[in-house]
Amino acid sequence: MEKQSLGLGGLLGLRAEGQFVLGAGFFNEVHVVAEDVVVKVAKPYGPLQQPLSWLRRNRREHEHSTRYLRVPATYHVRMNRRGDRPVSVLLQARLSGRLLSQAPDEDLYLPPLRMELVQTVRALERCRRQSGWLPDVIGGPPRWGMHDLRRSNNLFVTDDGEIWLIDPGALFLWFSRRNPVGMLYTSLLLWSGRRMLRKRSD
Ligand SMILES: Nc1ncnc2c1ncn2[C@@H]1O[C@H](COP(=O)(O)OP(=O)(O)O)[C@@H](O)[C@H]1O
Ligand SMILES: [Mg+2]
Repeated sequence: MEKQSLGLGGLLGLRAEGQFVLGAGFFNEVHVVAEDVVVKVAKPYGPLQQPLSWLRRNRREHEHSTRYLRVPATYHVRMNRRGDRPVSVLLQARLSGRLLSQAPDEDLYLPPLRMELVQTVRALERCRRQSGWLPDVIGGPPRWGMHDLRRSNNLFVTDDGEIWLIDPGALFLWFSRRNPVGMLYTSLLLWSGRRMLRKRSD
């Protein structure tokens, strides 16, 4: 089978044939449309959902996150068919692996994942220090444990042991910079990251 890449030519060649739903997260419904591409369709939440500003902000946050973490190549697309409500769509390179929340404990403290975790926590500390903000390193749904980086549904561990941030858009108030809730929440996340790294020597 010909390998699909995320070049524009590749995207134009995508076909809905053989498409299946990989997962429905809190914000996105994630479809696989080719061997190595996923399409994320933003779910509507009420009449205010999916303004163009949502997509722009999401794209800015993707770009910002790539300064600190690996983020899969992503195209942000606004689909606007006459008569329909506009839909925001993300086309993203598909990774093979599992969520950090699903990785077994024993993997965490061995190379290569151990070094990746150290680098990820350091990068997040740098990001928070330099920009006063963190991308959504935890992912939905809102739940007990969402202050704990170990429970992340947005940090993805590939089969090679690399960590990628698959869904950086930090659309909730509590990630927002420079408000007390955001500062407290992002501090808790960083603290949980440092604690996860210390655990090995327990
Ligand atoms: N690039 C990707 N490669 C492989 N699986 C993915 C990718 N992006 C998302 N997924 C899968 O789809 C799920 C939901 O994706 P995500 O972008 O986090 O949406 P939501 O914001 O709705 O949680 C993820 O938990 C993961 O299992
Ligand atoms: Mg997510």
